[in-house]
Amino acid sequence: MKAVILVGGLGTRLRPLTCNTPKPMIPLVNQPFIEWMLLRLRDQGITEVILAVQYLAHRFRESLGDGSQMELKIHIVEETEPLGTAGAVKNVEHLLDGPTFVFNGDVMTDLDLRAMLAFHREKQSKVTISLTPVEDPTQFGLVEMDRQNRVQRFLEKPGPEDITTDLINAGTYIIEPEVFRYVPPKQFYMFERGLFPVMLQTGDPMFGFPSRAYWTDIGKPQTYIDVHHDILIGKVAYNFRGRQIADRIWLEGDAEIHPSAQIVGPVVIGPGTVIKRGARVIGPTVIGARCVIGPECNIEGAVLWDDNVLDEGVVLRNCVLGRKNVIGERSHITDGAIVSDECSLGAENRLERGIRIWPNTELGDRAISF
Ligand code: GTP
Repeated sequence: MKAVILVGGLGTRLRPLTCNTPKPMIPLVNQPFIEWMLLRLRDQGITEVILAVQYLAHRFRESLGDGSQMELKIHIVEETEPLGTAGAVKNVEHLLDGPTFVFNGDVMTDLDLRAMLAFHREKQSKVTISLTPVEDPTQFGLVEMDRQNRVQRFLEKPGPEDITTDLINAGTYIIEPEVFRYVPPKQFYMFERGLFPVMLQTGDPMFGFPSRAYWTDIGKPQTYIDVHHDILIGKVAYNFRGRQIADRIWLEGDAEIHPSAQIVGPVVIGPGTVIKRGARVIGPTVIGARCVIGPECNIEGAVLWDDNVLDEGVVLRNCVLGRKNVIGERSHITDGAIVSDECSLGAENRLERGIRIWPNTELGDRAISF
C-alpha cells in the first residue's frame, strides 16, 4: 500500500525552530520526526511513500535518500511553488494506483491504520478522514457526521453556541485517486476549503473515522514540548534509542556524567554529552548529542537538540534549545521560551514567557532580564 506524506509547509507557528529545519525533520527525542513516522508506517504495512516536499526540500533528500535503509521505497517530489494540501497530492497523482493514505507530516499519532483501511473499504468511501476528539472545539475545524459516519458538514472554528461535535480532522486520510479530478492541476488548493466542500456538493461518499488513538500536532511550541513529555512518561508507545542505564534514564552511546550530578528520569541523553559537577537534570527532559551541561546547572522539562553548551548555573525549565547554542552562566530559560540555532547568550539573561530567539543571535551579559 502507498502513502503520501505532506511535508512542504513553512511551519510558521513553530518558528524559529523551523528557520533551518523543516518541521517534519525536527528532532523528536533525538530522532528526526519524519524518521519515526516512516518506521511506524512501514510497521503497519505501508511499502511505498511519496514525500511531497517544498520548503527546505534538500534536507529531506540528504537525510532519507531512497528509503532503502528503512526498507521502504521513498519518492521525493518537489513543488516549485507551494500547492497546498490537495494540490500537493494532485501533483503526485501519476504515482498513485489505488486507495492511498495521505498524512499531514506534523501529526504524532498511534492510529490503527489497518482498522481505518477496513472501515474505508466497508463503507465504500471515496475519502475517509480520521477524526479525534478535542477539549476546546472552538479552536479547530469540526467535522459533522450522520449516524453512519458519513460527513455532512465542516465547521471552521465555531462559536460556543454552534458546537455540535467535538471531533476534528486529525490529518490522516485514505483517498481514492479518482477524486483528484476535482482538483485543478498546478494550483494552490486545500482539502478543507477546496476538495472536501466540493465533494459534499457532488455527493461523493466521504466518511469520518473517529478514534481515541493518541494524537497531537507537533507544530506549536508548547505542543512540541508536551509531546516529548507524553513520550517520556509513557503516554504513547515509543522505542527509545540507546540503552536504559537506570530507572527511566536512556543513554545513546557514551556520556561523561560526574558522580555528583543528579539525574532523575525520565531523561534521554544523546551520545558524547558531558554532565558536570553538581548539575541536576530532572525529567521529562531530552538532551541531544555532544551537549555540555555545566556545573550546578538545573534542567527540568526541557528539550535540547545537539551541540549545546551551558555554562555554570544555567537554569532551563519547560523550554527548547535548537542546535549549537552557547548559554552564559546563571542564565534562566523558562516558560516555553525557545532559543533556535547557533545563538550565543551572555551571563544572567532571563528568557521567559514564550520568548523566541532567532538563529545566530548574540546577546551580551544581562541583555534580557526582568
Ligand atoms: P504553519 O505554517 O505553522 O501553519 O505550518 P505548516 O506550514 O506545516 O501548515 P499546516 O500545519 O497547516 O500543514 C499541514 C501539513 O501539510 C504539514 O505537514 C505541512 O508540511 C503540509 N503542507 C502544508 N502546505 C503544503 C504545501 O503547500 N505543499 C506541501 N507539499 N505540503 C504542505
